[in-house]
Amino acid sequence: MHWHFGIRLLHWLTVAALAAQIAIAFGPMRGPGMAMMNWLPLHMSIGATILAIIVLRLCWRSFTRAPARPTSRFVRFATAFFHMLLYVTILAVLITGWLGYRPMPFMPPARLFGTLPVPLAPSVGALSARGFAFVHQKLVWIMLGLVGIHVLAATVHLGLLRDGVMRSMVFGRPKTASRG
Ligand code: HEM
Ligand code: HEM
Repeated sequence: MHWHFGIRLLHWLTVAALAAQIAIAFGPMRGPGMAMMNWLPLHMSIGATILAIIVLRLCWRSFTRAPARPTSRFVRFATAFFHMLLYVTILAVLITGWLGYRPMPFMPPARLFGTLPVPLAPSVGALSARGFAFVHQKLVWIMLGLVGIHVLAATVHLGLLRDGVMRSMVFGRPKTASRG
């Protein structure tokens, strides 16, 4: 069994968009002076793209089954739980980013891809926008840690276990699939 083409496409699009986002957030956005302000519209545009990909993925995923594998129930549960955790964490990063966005009073709101103005998030609970921006930055590290474990697991499957798990996400078909 292999992952559906749509799931594979959206998985690797997530990786590409997330890599671009991280490169910008830890690169030019940290520059001097107005760098943060200047790069924030692109940061939020890529963020909105990631959100769209994740929502589409989750919708598609709800109609798709994970490849059937001869593993224990526990391993299946642990894998499903970890993947769910990845989805929840990335969504939390996106939502706290939005809640943490507050342009200065005299500034017009940033525009997504130069067109749609970013809607301002409502004030939520006890945390201020600054508070959410702080949580946003901390959650990014948690997400990166989880992604690191995920990539490590994929590498172990690829290099040590050689059980076709990586293939199922890259090419879609395990090497041992019967032909004809
Ligand atoms: C997965 C997607 C995202 C990642 C990985 C990410 C990552 C980051 C990182 C690492 C920073 C800190 C940059 C620094 O240290 O200077 C940051 C800041 C920020 N992000 Fe995101 N972000 C994402 C999505 C979003 C979204 C969707 C929004 C809003 C719609 C957003 C709004 C912000 C804002 C407003 C700041 C500045 C916080 C401040 O004023 O200190 N982010 N982001
Ligand atoms: C280079 C980086 C990455 C590699 C090599 C990789 C590899 C893989 C592989 C091999 C699978 C299939 C697992 C299985 O069949 O049990 C998978 C699934 C998955 N990956 Fe990744 N991945 C990467 C990055 C990411 C990132 C950044 C995310 C962030 C959300 C992510 C989220 C997921 C999820 C949620 C699944 C389960 C499939 C689904 O429910 O959509 N991966 N990944």
